[in-house]
Amino acid sequence: MTSMTVNGRPVRFRMDPDTPLLWALRDAANLTGTKYGCGEGDCGACMVHVDGEALRSCLITIGEAEGRFITTIEGLSRDRTHPVQQALVAEQAIQCGFCTPGIVMAASALLEKSGSPSEAEIKAAIPNLCRCGVYPRLVRAIERAGRVARRQERISAAPVPGISVEDAARDVPAISAPQD
Ligand code: FES
Ligand code: FES
Repeated sequence: MTSMTVNGRPVRFRMDPDTPLLWALRDAANLTGTKYGCGEGDCGACMVHVDGEALRSCLITIGEAEGRFITTIEGLSRDRTHPVQQALVAEQAIQCGFCTPGIVMAASALLEKSGSPSEAEIKAAIPNLCRCGVYPRLVRAIERAGRVARRQERISAAPVPGISVEDAARDVPAISAPQD
């Protein structure tokens, strides 16, 4: 049994401690916002926060994550109003569904460390392999997210996407508090 905190809730995985955190999150906890791309640390699609650091969840086992605080894209913001989410929509810097969650997680961890990152810092912090053409817009969006986070700018709410906020942030049975 491996215990950790996922999106603010205590979780125990009844899985081999060598299981990659990515698999446990997706297959056992049904937190499928964290994407399985290469599985080898290259693509960045599986990025989560581990104790506030952006880490590729395919490269860390649940044994190594024991006792740590994990945040996935589902836990970043329950209503999609994180400054990075707002700024990516506003700047139309949206990638495909595989790449976007990892980019949001990497950018949000960066802004926690450095409220006003330089272009070089942004490029270094977003290691995702593919950006399918939005490189300049992505940098602009993350700079803008920093201004929003520092309350120097506001962005109006993005239009509601196809699924409800409640469904996107739904509780899942596997993420239940330990009974004892
Ligand atoms: S799936 Fe983890 S880096 Fe690609
Ligand atoms: S493959 Fe996802 S943005 Fe290119």
